Amino acid sequence: MSSESTVAADPDTPPAAAEPPYAGGRLPLLGHAGKLVGDPLGFLAGLRDHGDVVRLRLGPKTAYAVNDPELVGELLKSPGYEVGGPLWETLEVLLGKGVATSNGADHRRQRRMMQPSFRPERIADHGPVMEEEARATADRWQPGETVDVAAETFRTAVRIVSRSLLEVDSIGEKADRISASLGTVFEGLYRRVVLPVGPLYKMPTRANRRFERALADLHTLVDEVIAERRSSGALGEDLLGVLLTATQESGAPLADQEIHDHLVSLIVAGSENVASTLAWTFQLLTEHPEQETRVVEEVNSVTGDRPVSYGDLDALVHTKNVIVEAMRVRPAAWIFTRRSVAENELGGYRIPADTDIVYSAYAMQRDPRSFERHLEFDPDRWLPERAARVPKFAMMPFSVGKRKCPGDHFSMAEIALVLATVLPRWHLAPVAASDPAPRIGITLAPKRLLLRAEPR
Ligand code: HEM
Repeated sequence: MSSESTVAADPDTPPAAAEPPYAGGRLPLLGHAGKLVGDPLGFLAGLRDHGDVVRLRLGPKTAYAVNDPELVGELLKSPGYEVGGPLWETLEVLLGKGVATSNGADHRRQRRMMQPSFRPERIADHGPVMEEEARATADRWQPGETVDVAAETFRTAVRIVSRSLLEVDSIGEKADRISASLGTVFEGLYRRVVLPVGPLYKMPTRANRRFERALADLHTLVDEVIAERRSSGALGEDLLGVLLTATQESGAPLADQEIHDHLVSLIVAGSENVASTLAWTFQLLTEHPEQETRVVEEVNSVTGDRPVSYGDLDALVHTKNVIVEAMRVRPAAWIFTRRSVAENELGGYRIPADTDIVYSAYAMQRDPRSFERHLEFDPDRWLPERAARVPKFAMMPFSVGKRKCPGDHFSMAEIALVLATVLPRWHLAPVAASDPAPRIGITLAPKRLLLRAEPR
């Protein structure tokens, strides 16, 4: 008998998973890196034509891209992957080891500790801050003024998240300083993620010094907030209060560094995403005046002559559909990475251990296989009977699984309140110098969004 005939295939052993195909357009040395850096949105959206899972060469490294919603859902829910990759590593070095960058048991403990602060009844406590900041934004503008929408929405988002989660007397004034520092930090972060060449950023250039100063300011401001709250003796039920009274498994209080890192994580995670989503929504409404009119009519029909409040949000159905549709066609959170902790299988393909995996919400949410008239801004696609036809995991602007955004309800509430406060007072008209092309950064935002505030 030949040796081949004695080694019969075991019917219970699944066939070894195959290697996924390489995406097309690979160049010697660079691989796909040039395309990914040069035109990330076009490149990532084109990957679906090469397969549900494809291999990418990024210089010397191989990464895997997942292009099918079901498989992305599986990736996010599987214990076989954790947050990792250049984005997370850079964030951790610069911002610390908070809930957004930790993994495993540490991460589970941190989520359990924070989750109660994001329950709907706790978010309702922040309603008055959201209302006040939304009104302050609308009050700042003058008739005919050209509004720098990115700056305005960023300031509003930082003020809301800081005042809601860090209740100290000086937070009103500190929030503006946090906003200024964080704006500079975000500008420098993306460059450090895509080009993680340490020595480049140690050079004493003006941009590097500005970045370092802003990062140091951000950390100092958070320490000042913690010290102020401790010295006030107030415990409080806001997130800062929760962190100051939380204990580790041993029963010891959290270390100051851990409290600090969580607060930085939350301010970072809760600001630019919100600001960019708001900016895109304003921009899309300038392109679709009929939708702007519907939002204003809906708000007026709910509030009559009084100012809109947190309690009105349930009734603002179309306004929320406008936000969800803006998040679909212009997602602020556009690219995500994971790292495999062991060898896994995904969609019948082998994913080696310790490999970077990427998926793009931008590409998935604009996939014609999942959405009819996929590039059209159509908020009514989120009416219940039509929304039910959207394939599972094809639309998840807040992600799913263990890393799902804890700030999802918080964000929807603040964004809806800002829109519902601003739009009945101001029509925002595009001006010639405005450039709403996507600007690639940690979040996707309009490049330079300038709108003229015209009183209604
Ligand atoms: C429109 C606004 C927002 C969007 C689109 C958004 C989106 C997301 C997404 C997609 C993730 C998951 C990241 C991943 O899977 O790798 C995430 C995580 C996170 N978000 Fe948000 N977010 C928003 C606002 C907020 C706000 C307002 C807060 C806090 C107040 C917040 C706090 C966080 C935190 C702490 C994480 C990390 C969670 C973890 O790793 O366990 N986000 N966000």
